[in-house]
Amino acid sequence: MKHLVALSLLAADFSNLRADIEMINNSDADWFHLDIMDGVFVPNISFGVPVVECVNKYTRKPLDVHLMLAEPDKFIDTFHQLNASVLNVHYEACTHLHRTIQRIKSLGMKAGVTLNPHTPVCLLEEIIGDLDLVMLMSVNPGFGGQKFIENTIGKVSRLKELILRKNAQTLIEVDGGVNLETGRRLLDVGVDVLVAGNFVFKSENPVETIKKLKML
Ligand code: DX5
Ligand code: ZN
Repeated sequence: MKHLVALSLLAADFSNLRADIEMINNSDADWFHLDIMDGVFVPNISFGVPVVECVNKYTRKPLDVHLMLAEPDKFIDTFHQLNASVLNVHYEACTHLHRTIQRIKSLGMKAGVTLNPHTPVCLLEEIIGDLDLVMLMSVNPGFGGQKFIENTIGKVSRLKELILRKNAQTLIEVDGGVNLETGRRLLDVGVDVLVAGNFVFKSENPVETIKKLKML
């Protein structure tokens, strides 16, 4: 499979969100990546339901929702109604992860589990076969524009090994500090989906930058 690129809206210009949404619609990006933060699970608050409703009105690409919430279970139905295609919950926030994953899948969404930088891949040993996607955080969640954590490269290899050993179909996504250099190295070790925020939005020509990430 050719890798996918998911654009994180966190780095967009919220005073002119529609323009950035149209830019992504008209680019080679595959998914919209929406970072939902509650100020409890992570030390920041991003945006919530009214903004996602507006995004939803204009996007022509699947929504990849990243829930950085202390109680993600409370919002599974909400994001289903908001048209999420992929719903990512953090391993660290889910006491009954198996139940959470089954609930997400029963509503027809793809279920993703996200691991913070310190959370080892081996904790997914018993659940990997149920997961459509695993997202590895390559920065500590809460903010865009941070530096890529090098340990992620080895972690992707360990995750790939687990997926192959269990004969699972799980996709690997990486979120944080992705640019052309880190992106290339991530693809070399088996990443399927690259999330990019600041690298695209701060570039001179975002559409061109997305194209370059797609052509890696
Ligand atoms: C961080 C978010 C990321 C972030 C990525 O908590 O989950 O999706 O927006 O942004 P960059 O690409 O700027 O690191
Ligand atoms: Zn994210």
